[in-house]
Amino acid sequence: MSTRPRKILVTSALPYANGPIHLGHLLEYIQTDIWVAFQKLRNVDCIYVCADDAHGTAIMLKAEENGLTPEQQIANVKAEHEQDFAAFNVRFDHYYSTHSDENRELSSLIFERNKAAGYIIEKEITQLYDPDKGMFLADRFVRGNCPKCKSEDQYGDNCEVCGATYSSADLIKPYSALSGATPIEKPVTQLFFDLPRFEEMLRSWTRSGALQNEVANKLAEWLEGGLQPWDISREAPYFGFEIPGYPGKYFYVWLDAPIGYMASFKKYCEGKDISFDDYWARDSEAELYHFIGKDIINFHGLFWPAMLEGAGLRKPTAIYAHGFVTVNGAKMSKSRGTFIKASSYLEHLDPEYLRYYFAAKLTSKVDDFDLNLDDFVQRVNSDLVGKVVQIASRTANFINKLGGRTSSELDNSLLVSEVQNAASNIADLYEAREFGRAMREIMALADHVNQYVQARAPWSLNKQEGKQQEVLEVCTTAINAFRLLVLYLKPVLPVLAEKAEAFLNIEPLTWADASTLLLDHEVCAFTPLMQRIESDQIAALIESSKDTTAAAVMQNDENKKSGDKKNNSKKKDDKKDDNSVDEPISIDDFLKVKLRAARIQKAEHVEGADKLLQLTLDVGNGETRNVFAGIKSKYKPEDIEGKMVVLVANLAPRKMKFGVSEGMVLAAGPGGDDIFLLSPDDGAEPGMEVR
Ligand code: 2FM
Ligand code: ZN
Repeated sequence: MSTRPRKILVTSALPYANGPIHLGHLLEYIQTDIWVAFQKLRNVDCIYVCADDAHGTAIMLKAEENGLTPEQQIANVKAEHEQDFAAFNVRFDHYYSTHSDENRELSSLIFERNKAAGYIIEKEITQLYDPDKGMFLADRFVRGNCPKCKSEDQYGDNCEVCGATYSSADLIKPYSALSGATPIEKPVTQLFFDLPRFEEMLRSWTRSGALQNEVANKLAEWLEGGLQPWDISREAPYFGFEIPGYPGKYFYVWLDAPIGYMASFKKYCEGKDISFDDYWARDSEAELYHFIGKDIINFHGLFWPAMLEGAGLRKPTAIYAHGFVTVNGAKMSKSRGTFIKASSYLEHLDPEYLRYYFAAKLTSKVDDFDLNLDDFVQRVNSDLVGKVVQIASRTANFINKLGGRTSSELDNSLLVSEVQNAASNIADLYEAREFGRAMREIMALADHVNQYVQARAPWSLNKQEGKQQEVLEVCTTAINAFRLLVLYLKPVLPVLAEKAEAFLNIEPLTWADASTLLLDHEVCAFTPLMQRIESDQIAALIESSKDTTAAAVMQNDENKKSGDKKNNSKKKDDKKDDNSVDEPISIDDFLKVKLRAARIQKAEHVEGADKLLQLTLDVGNGETRNVFAGIKSKYKPEDIEGKMVVLVANLAPRKMKFGVSEGMVLAAGPGGDDIFLLSPDDGAEPGMEVR
């Protein structure tokens, strides 16, 4: 057996540079950070790199929308992402951008090598073109029905229902997600990576132990279904790298995104005594792990290893996929305030709470992860505050009072040995990404220690004459156990560990310290280590994450456009969510709604109605409509006469208690004083279509 020390390179998926980090992302970064921190604690040479995923049409359009150049857009978002990661103690060794010189060079190199080996083919295809926008449509911007299972409203490159991958031109009833226009087919020559030539390699690699069983099974289904060449080029306008030798053609964002892992690492190596090739050459002995979400296993489990193989490079040692995050059992929802951004969380709660809760429930499996907010409060308070911190808060002060030094003997060395002996099992659980089981082991030990402290009751003992040495030995036992538990929790709770190290007056703990004790050692004054979570903190977080309805609809649409699907569990059959504005409708559905400008000719109180005003609307061409609107809590009739509003003009007439309502006036807001009638732009005329 080789005794060569391990060398590990770890990555998390690269977040897109067009939106904020939210809880759905954080699960993965925190999971990866814990694993890496554990390796580092054991003194294993482990390097963690990541980057912003900066290319593609979504980012180009986002920049346009923000009035920025793509370069400004990606620089701004990268700075925000880095700030959020740092606040949650996600400690990358290097964080880069896919829009870098290193990535351009490596992408070209990998492309050229595959081309030289005959794995790049040119094919004339017809591609979908948006005649309104004047551009070819990236897969993400075409939607339609899956060619395989016929599910409605799928993305242009893969079906979230049956998992099929295909080309957007194969979609049934396609439409442009940018303009709603029916795309036209235009012939264009594109470059394809000849994935079917790697079928045999992929069959064996996907069964080599590199993948979780669930993932291997999913990939086996795709392999059974037959692989297709993969379209790796895109036409201008596109924000990305122009393909060498093909002016006007760009690498598809998913070609250079995983190469961004290499590029970030390459930049990290610069000026250090680390050989890039030691990690990436075909015969590399370094371990390479990619932590990802289950939505991108096709890219990491098929295309990526095949591209690497084709370029004569090593393949990943393993890919670790996790499931989607749900909050309180449903997908994150802006209307319910459970679509929680990293920056919002930080305004209300300590990042260590979330790190612990993620750890407490994470397994090595691909299952979805439910953040149940009641359970979150309960677990953090009872485990961290009520068990771990409690050990120190009940005993540390006695050491401080009785001279500030731990005793040279333990009162109960068996108990401390029990805690010490758990180190190797806990290490195995960390290594296997069974963090939940590791946390349960640690909490079971904390229970034993608390039972011991309770039984020995140093607070009573200390009142007795001549028992002070005994008190010191009891508390030294407890504090030694506490130190070990803090060590075991250190990958998860680096801040708690740092505070405990300061109190204990010790160098930063490493895993090897599990075999040592803290006897006859001067400690510092004890200060509280962690606060309980109060339920009003959660309420405030939810409240601040709530969007008014109009804003929620718009932002949700944006997330769909960006292809940022991390947080959405996308369970099509999740009927729990009927009231959520996040439930997607197709653009076809949306376009059925006819929105027209209308002028309020007359507004009147309705006798017997608390909330309604009766509006007579001028909708152009001499036509008027009678509409009942629930806006009385905010608007007085005399204040709104003459105002322009937006009318849902083709809503079927509804018979109400007070008469027939012939349409609906759009307003945003939760109600009461917070209702805002939507007005079309200045210059709108009654009857004009609004969109
Ligand atoms: O799905 C996503 O959010 C992608 N930006 C992940 C890219 S991971 C890697 F391949 F670059
Ligand atoms: Zn399908």
